[in-house]
Amino acid sequence: MRAVVFDEAGELARVDRPEPAPGPKEVVVETAAVGVCGTDTHVFDGEFEGTVYPLVPGHEATGVVVAVGSEVTTLSSGDHVAVNPSTTCGECEFCANGKSNLCREWNGLGVVASDGAAQERFTAPVQNVYKLRPETDLYQAALIEPLACAIRAYDRLPRRMGDHYLIYGAGTMGLIMAQLAPRAGAASVTVVDINEARLKTARELGFEHVLTSADRAERDRWDVIVDCTGAVPAIEDALPRVKAGGTFQHFGVAPAEAGADYSPFRVYRDEISIVGTMAVLNSFGRAVEMFEAEAINPAPMISHSFTLDDYPKALELFRQGKGRKLQIRPGDTVSRVLL
Ligand SMILES: NC(=O)c1ccc[n+]([C@@H]2O[C@H](COP(=O)([O-])OP(=O)(O)OC[C@H]3O[C@@H](n4cnc5c(N)ncnc54)[C@H](O)[C@@H]3O)[C@@H](O)[C@H]2O)c1
Ligand SMILES: [Zn+2]
Ligand SMILES: [Zn+2]
Repeated sequence: MRAVVFDEAGELARVDRPEPAPGPKEVVVETAAVGVCGTDTHVFDGEFEGTVYPLVPGHEATGVVVAVGSEVTTLSSGDHVAVNPSTTCGECEFCANGKSNLCREWNGLGVVASDGAAQERFTAPVQNVYKLRPETDLYQAALIEPLACAIRAYDRLPRRMGDHYLIYGAGTMGLIMAQLAPRAGAASVTVVDINEARLKTARELGFEHVLTSADRAERDRWDVIVDCTGAVPAIEDALPRVKAGGTFQHFGVAPAEAGADYSPFRVYRDEISIVGTMAVLNSFGRAVEMFEAEAINPAPMISHSFTLDDYPKALELFRQGKGRKLQIRPGDTVSRVLL
């Protein structure tokens, strides 16, 4: 069976490995599609805290169940599924208090210590595997994992009817956050990105206020501002634009050592809330339901599919900020430009 392996930070190999066998409470999934995102570049570069090499990457996956463990009763071979990559210890203070995304033993398939989906078949704990309708497009459904992160992010926002939203970054995450905003009650949604090509997708998705700088917007304050870039210049540009009583969210992952300038006085005086959001918390099942209810428009968001052999090309294209969501499709024999 073919697989992509990060042998150590910065070293990628394409290898043949033995077929995986499921443990009692595991299933084997034949990968249909697995998205590539910034986390994969961080794992490859050795910048993700705790990664244990060698590791098969890939955490945004869908596929078809091909084998189930002896104690699995809820899934069968042939089921179409999406896989929540997060696994947690279940025992620490955070797991015990309903905050398992903050688990100190947090492990993501394809991210920390368990192999991910950039291979023909992979194993996953049955509790992480969510059944899809047979008619759901398995390629597009690889956006369910990012959608689950976005739903967690909304759990951390006020969700007040009539609020004005400003989203920094029109990558996959910014575009998903922007598409969910009207469902959270947004009166308007403004999307800002310095990359004009990314803004084109935002326009295709029907957003009206799509700009290369927030300075060009009709308004100068927003109730809710979400950074989906992780870039300090975006964060510093954003905070002064939060309306008194409003909320700023760090969704983007800034470098661990970075700092940002903002006015503590203003946070006090104007009661600004600054909130973080980390991965998925009780939101994967809701993401499946919302994806199948067409809460996001997936087609304009997926631009390229790559074979396993072309995995390095996908990483390179992602680093260049080219295309939209890039996917690996291990069953394909040719890589394709989809848009
Ligand atoms: N909190 C979470 O749970 C979570 C989950 C998934 C991803 N993330 C993070 O979310 C961020 C976005 O992910 P993505 O996949 O959309 O990434 P992406 O790289 O595809 O998109 C980021 C976008 O930000 C834009 N950008 C960069 N600097 C900017 C600036 N100064 N002003 C405006 N736009 C700017 C880029 O042009 C790009 O289009 C990443 O940092 C990622 O690590 C967080
Ligand atoms: Zn991801
Ligand atoms: Zn824990």
